[in-house]
Amino acid sequence: MKSILEKLEQRRSGARLGGGEQRIEAQHRRGKLTARERIGLLLDHGSFEEYDMFVEHRASEFGADRSKIPGDGVVTGWGTVNGRTVFVFAKDFTVFGGSLSEAHAQKMTKIQDMALKARAPIIGLFDAGGARIQEGVAALAGYGDVFKRNVQASGVIPQISVIMGPCAGGDVYSPAMTDFIFMVRDTSYMFVTGPEVVKTVTNEIVTAEELGGASVHATRSAVADGAFENDVECLLQMRRFIDFLPAHSGAGVPEWPSFDDVERLEPSLDTLIPDNPNKPYDMKELIQKVVDEGDFFELSPQFAKNILTGFGRIAGRTVGFVANQPMVLAGVLDSDASRKAARFVRFCNAFDIPIVTFVDVPGFLPGTAQESGGLIKNGAKLLFAYSQCTVPLVTLITRKAFGGAYVVMAAKHIGADVNYAWPTAQIAVMGAKGAVEIIFRSDLGDPEKIAERTAEYESSFMSPFKAAERGFIDEVIMPHSTRRRIARALSMLRTKTLEMPAKKHDNLPL
Ligand code: HXC
Repeated sequence: MKSILEKLEQRRSGARLGGGEQRIEAQHRRGKLTARERIGLLLDHGSFEEYDMFVEHRASEFGADRSKIPGDGVVTGWGTVNGRTVFVFAKDFTVFGGSLSEAHAQKMTKIQDMALKARAPIIGLFDAGGARIQEGVAALAGYGDVFKRNVQASGVIPQISVIMGPCAGGDVYSPAMTDFIFMVRDTSYMFVTGPEVVKTVTNEIVTAEELGGASVHATRSAVADGAFENDVECLLQMRRFIDFLPAHSGAGVPEWPSFDDVERLEPSLDTLIPDNPNKPYDMKELIQKVVDEGDFFELSPQFAKNILTGFGRIAGRTVGFVANQPMVLAGVLDSDASRKAARFVRFCNAFDIPIVTFVDVPGFLPGTAQESGGLIKNGAKLLFAYSQCTVPLVTLITRKAFGGAYVVMAAKHIGADVNYAWPTAQIAVMGAKGAVEIIFRSDLGDPEKIAERTAEYESSFMSPFKAAERGFIDEVIMPHSTRRRIARALSMLRTKTLEMPAKKHDNLPL
């Protein structure tokens, strides 16, 4: 019996070496950890249960039968993050460059199926060279099996993809269908076709970083929701991130102990809004002062910075925040901001996470670039996303709420439950200058008259009270009591029940 046990231990140790010492060293020289080291950092110590460590590929062409490595390029299993179950697969770049074979795909789909059955989040760590070239269509079929499961699980369990090395060809489309993608700066890149193919087809010469590094995907393409400096920082941030997420769509948000009093008043908020309505202020300060312990996990911080999205907690429970950022483009809504916020709102709604919206928006960004870039459809995405929400929606207008953007940013009319305004709020079809220039065009030559008309417009429209008189604003609140008021609203809304008409699915303006 002893020798049987020893043999098992030997086989396990062999499998754990993956592609061998040399390739592990090469991985480290590139500043990357191995698949198992990454899992070790992501999960609670000692919690990882590995499956299928002895699976090998079944290919025989191009000499494939002479090189079989247990595990076949992906490490799979489950464990816990701060005590909560998560399923994991991590591509092992030391084994055939982490490329996907038929057997490799079967390991992944087994874990995807288990995560869905167990209703627990799944996290994929990517570092891979795409389809296993020696396997041909069997590898392509494997990708199809993985993609289909991504879609089946979408909206049921959170799916997170972390790109920690190359991620090309078939490997990019599975992450693209998950809820969140995070990248590691300088060591990871994602593209459908690599620099060599690009050069052959288009004559364009680019580096992998220029084509698909974190600098592209976290700032311009919005493929990635965030980027981190190295493997260790990235995985530790993933642990923090998972703590915000429900286990599945029916689980409700996780509740963590909070030592931050929900009654906490924040006098500094009374002076957050500058006297000059055209002067910016940092909306992130408001979010950080409202959430428990100032802990805000921002998503896509480098993309469409004119809108803020991310998770925080109030009374220990996760809340999704969407907020215009007056520091960038005066907080205007453009195509990118609308798309960014719409996707976030839809994630929150799918997973029953209440949404708090802070509004300071001068309107939609005018111009040919925006119109030809599909601002109508993109703005409609956000409008659609909020309008289909059944989760609690609490909205606070801090300053400007002009025109269509007022309605889009979770106004009462599209389903918000509790709508607050600070006394500094200005709710109108447009700002005073634009309004007066249109309504009193014939007086434009008379500056005195225009000033008079502007003052008249400001005093009658540029306040929250016209909206409050109609009940579109439930209450004009003191800025210092914002946390308390939002906490109370969310607490009242915990039992909110709202059903949309039954349908196969909606037709979101894509
Ligand atoms: C088999 C592969 C492989 C692959 C890498 N390897 N990619 N083996 N199939 N796709 C192996 C290499 O032979 C090598 O083995 C080891 O992995 C490390 O690869 P290197 O090239 O030495 O590493 P590096 O220089 O870091 O380059 C990494 C790389 C490059 C950029 C990923 O390997 C590469 O370009 N690979 C091919 C990418 C690709 O075109 N894949 C197919 C995409 S098409 P040894 O034994 O030397 O360690 C696709 C279609 C799916 O995926 C569509 C589904 C819808």
